Amino acid sequence: VYPEEISLDGKTYKTDEWTNVPPYILELTQRRLHHDNNHPIGILRELIEKNFKGMGYTFYNDFTPGVTTFQNFDVLGFPQDHPGRSKSDTYYLNKDNLLRTHTSAHEHECFQTCETPGYVISADVYRKDEIDRTHYPAFHQMEGARIWTKSDKLEEIIAHDIEQIPKTNIIVEDPFRENCFNEGNPKQDYMTDNEVYLVSVHLKKTIEYLVNQVFEAARKSAKLAGSTEPYLNEPLKIRWVEAYFPWTAPSWEIEVWWKGEWLECCGCGIVRQQVLLNSGLGEEKLGWAFGIGLDRIAMLLFGIPDIRLFWTLDERFGKQFSSGNINTFAPYSKYPGIKRDISFWLPKDVTLHNNEVMDIVRTHAGDLTESVENIDNFVHPKTGKRSQTYRLNYQSMDRNLTNSEINVLHNNVEQDLKKLFDVEIR
Ligand code: PHE
Repeated sequence: VYPEEISLDGKTYKTDEWTNVPPYILELTQRRLHHDNNHPIGILRELIEKNFKGMGYTFYNDFTPGVTTFQNFDVLGFPQDHPGRSKSDTYYLNKDNLLRTHTSAHEHECFQTCETPGYVISADVYRKDEIDRTHYPAFHQMEGARIWTKSDKLEEIIAHDIEQIPKTNIIVEDPFRENCFNEGNPKQDYMTDNEVYLVSVHLKKTIEYLVNQVFEAARKSAKLAGSTEPYLNEPLKIRWVEAYFPWTAPSWEIEVWWKGEWLECCGCGIVRQQVLLNSGLGEEKLGWAFGIGLDRIAMLLFGIPDIRLFWTLDERFGKQFSSGNINTFAPYSKYPGIKRDISFWLPKDVTLHNNEVMDIVRTHAGDLTESVENIDNFVHPKTGKRSQTYRLNYQSMDRNLTNSEINVLHNNVEQDLKKLFDVEIR
């Protein structure tokens, strides 16, 4: 049962028989992970944006996820019976409003208002979907688009713009580079063959550059984490495949060869003229658009094993990431730990290095030790005896520990300290 009204980012929506957004999804709309420069999603967003800086793109990162069915579907040419429109795929606020299912929902608005040749949007998007380690009902996309104006000089201008895109040494498999359209993936009548060719090369080179930047960063991070997998030293390999989107023609998808499989990365195409016309752009305009999913790429980049981790409020996750850095996630346990302190007097001429304590603990508890910390050292003012205290946290990555099993391990640690260093347990 839904309340009579739902408010989202300052707007109220009267609920009706279409409403199906549960409260926990509405809460996710307020997290804005892509704004957080110290979160993997925000770090990846920054990394991608960086490559578009200074090239005539406007950045939009603040669009509210509440959009109309017109923006999300109709204006883009989705047929009335498209499965994406169903209540079982999409979160509706009410009959006419929904949580955007893709960043393309803002194309109409951006084409209407954007004053630069291109734009880049980043946003959280929502889909009802299967549940597994790479799917979550909320995820993130970035969308880019670029528009030119027809003129006698158009071909010269696009060719010049292509030159501006930095070169990569990526290996490209593209059966559709020269023959960029065909019956199954047709061009639109309003463009000449050569215009389609030039715009598609600009589009593909832009995305290849972007993918190169992102996956080079992923490789660097994997190497820093100690991976010596051979693919890390081979040139990056991508391939282009044909695709279909109601608002682009022709359309393609880029796939990246990563850890032995082709990873679908980014859908794109040449914007249908009807979308441009609907947005108030004249018949002389043409251009491309792409959309890229951030979450799965961020999982690779940061070595994050489960998409749900992006949404955790656990500080053991948050404190691992900082702006501009791509580092490999260090897993932590979801099971509670058992803390035990150990304090002892040292014999007069014995020095005990931290590492020796670590070694003893590791010998007895192995991977069940989450941390060992030297929390206190002091010298008794009268006797001159030295005391040390260590705090041990026993914690398993995959199960709850019992007090009695930890008693045994902890007792073994104490016995070894006594035996090997002659300490006197306090
Ligand atoms: N919105 C599409 C998706 O979510 C991606 C896309 C964007 C395709 C722009 C073409 C142009 O899959």
